[in-house]
Amino acid sequence: MRLILLGGPGAGKGTQAKILTEKEGIPQISTGDMLRSAIKAQTEMGLAAKKFMDAGQLVPDEVVIGLIRDRLGEDDAKGGFILDGFPRTTAQADALGELLEKLEMPLDAAVSIEVDDEELVSRLTGRLTCANCGAMYHKVNNPPKLAGVCDKCGSNELIVRDDDKEETIRKRLATYHDQTSPLIDYYDGKGLLKRISGIGTIDEIQQRLREAVGA
Ligand code: AP5
Ligand code: MG
Ligand code: ZN
Repeated sequence: MRLILLGGPGAGKGTQAKILTEKEGIPQISTGDMLRSAIKAQTEMGLAAKKFMDAGQLVPDEVVIGLIRDRLGEDDAKGGFILDGFPRTTAQADALGELLEKLEMPLDAAVSIEVDDEELVSRLTGRLTCANCGAMYHKVNNPPKLAGVCDKCGSNELIVRDDDKEETIRKRLATYHDQTSPLIDYYDGKGLLKRISGIGTIDEIQQRLREAVGA
């Protein structure tokens, strides 16, 4: 299965991709996670990207296209993948199309997870991320079983992402509406678009996602 997950910041792309990855045994490829790893490793690229991310803006296309080109060339992507947070501009979508054509790995679907803006803001202002394994929680909607401790790996470093301040969240939303939401029509035009509501429990949305892609 070769999928793209589209959706605004906080729509649940990461949450759903992680579940699908475990069930289907195909990698989640998140440009946001890759950029955050580069920041953690303090690479030159990471430090340059951080300025855009903290401002709620997109990192330049050539940077993320380069990351994806390398990542899709790795062996584990041969059996399928879930792209989470890429593509985010028409230029990225065009570059992905060319790359997948060369690799002879056509997309199966682009799923748009649809959630209204106010719900997105409330999800992101409550999000906690495990600094060790990347697992995601929500202070109210999806708390860890034991307060402050990751269910998955036991780490007690549950942090608020640097870009999850309300002001930055609003900027990320504006960036999404401006630059990324046109991809909904883009993939509709290619006959690949599936729309699902992203409101409901995490399990319900996973069920909708599986039905939408015939998994
Ligand atoms: P990225 O990391 O991709 O962030 P994003 O798109 O803003 O999305 P999020 O990761 O915030 O949300 P999500 O949809 O994964 O939701 P989640 O599952 O966590 O990108 C960050 C930045 O990197 C960008 O701003 C940009 O600067 C840069 N970047 C990345 N890719 C790029 C690209 N291709 N081009 C250029 N720049 C790029 O869920 C959110 C919260 O809600 C969690 O707390 C979760 O527990 C909770 N939740 C999940 N599902 C539900 C539910 N059903 N009900 C209630 N709560 C729920
Ligand atoms: Mg995410
Ligand atoms: Zn963890």
